[in-house]
Amino acid sequence: MSRPPHRIVVPGDKSVSHRAVLFNAMAEGEARITGLLNAEDVGRTVQAARQLGARLAHEGDVLVVRGGPWRDSGEIDCGNSGTTARLLLGALAPRAGARFVGDASLSKRPMRRVLDLLGRMGADTSAGPTLPVEVRRAALVGIEHVATVASAQVKSAVLLAGLGAEGETAYTEPVSTRDHTERMLFAMGARLAVSSTAAGTRLAVRRGSLQACNVRVPGDISSATFWLVAAALLEGVAVELPGVGLNPTRTAAIDVLRRMGAELQVEEEPGVEPIGLVRVRGRGLRGTTISGAEVPRLIDELPALAVAAAFAEGETIVRDAAELRVKESDRIEAIVGGLRAIGVEAEARPDGFVVQGGGARGGEVRTHGDHRIAMAFSVAGLRVPVAIDERASVQTSYPGFFEELERLREAIVPPR
Ligand code: S3P
Repeated sequence: MSRPPHRIVVPGDKSVSHRAVLFNAMAEGEARITGLLNAEDVGRTVQAARQLGARLAHEGDVLVVRGGPWRDSGEIDCGNSGTTARLLLGALAPRAGARFVGDASLSKRPMRRVLDLLGRMGADTSAGPTLPVEVRRAALVGIEHVATVASAQVKSAVLLAGLGAEGETAYTEPVSTRDHTERMLFAMGARLAVSSTAAGTRLAVRRGSLQACNVRVPGDISSATFWLVAAALLEGVAVELPGVGLNPTRTAAIDVLRRMGAELQVEEEPGVEPIGLVRVRGRGLRGTTISGAEVPRLIDELPALAVAAAFAEGETIVRDAAELRVKESDRIEAIVGGLRAIGVEAEARPDGFVVQGGGARGGEVRTHGDHRIAMAFSVAGLRVPVAIDERASVQTSYPGFFEELERLREAIVPPR
């Protein structure tokens, strides 16, 4: 007899949480946000919003945000959070001044991709290329830009700056990235036009204010993916995840796990952000190739998918994912290093990696202080003994992760 699915409620989506706080902090009126991710990264955005003059208060599980015009702030500490830094740089440029700092990892990550575009719009910032960066309020003018990196953070920074700029600010994406910013800006009354051009999807925004908008933050598909992979690794184990965000710009990990042989069912409810139940049942996995337009739709899920590949039959190839090198760690090196440490054959490529499935026997893995590396290899620990060198990094996106992992471990122990 098969046992009932083990149920896991994942915390709120990190990308949507940052945007719900930040955009409402810029807006007119009062917004109620439910399901906000309560983790360090989003805490950085909440703190920054307060420093800039927004009023934020918790009422039970709801965060009430009252926005308004921003005032200059002193230092804004973005911690480990690239989304806080890059979105706020764009939002601040036409509105207020601040000095941005971050932790050791964030201080190594590229900011020129945002600063150069803001500079073209007339922003007054120090040159980077990394944090610390100073921003002083300036009069901006719109630009026409075609993206050279697939980055929702860069896109969002330009659109937020464009909301405070003269004329039209247009950003064209040859390859689509997560579109939470566009969805929320529409819901808040921004003058944003989306069109399809030969160069890709063109987003054009004009100066204007935002109206506060209540947000129900969906569960984070990136956090859910650790459990999808966990179940996929354990034959006969079923996990169900209610309330997960199913925005199609984020769901390629589901497609890939299906392609690898996992049994996955999705029940979706439409909305500004689609949300739904995902059910997964473990059975044998096989290797696959991940490349092209699929990559931005699962970029944060690649550490978890690499672990699935380690236990799959055959080879898995990841291409077109050079962006992994500038995440919270160089994730190509961190993934390959981790796989080798547990006995799996893996090779780093400039824009990805190759994994030969099978052979995992366990070992000690370095996380490089990266939450997603820590969680991915802890999931591998359900199959082989794995020790990781730190656990604190998971606080950035999933504070309850290890407790949840223990509950799953207990649930899958065969009854005596
Ligand atoms: C994010 C965009 C992605 C992603 C990050 C969150 C966002 O980064 O990796 O975790 O919320 O916009 P890039 O914009 O650098 O691709």
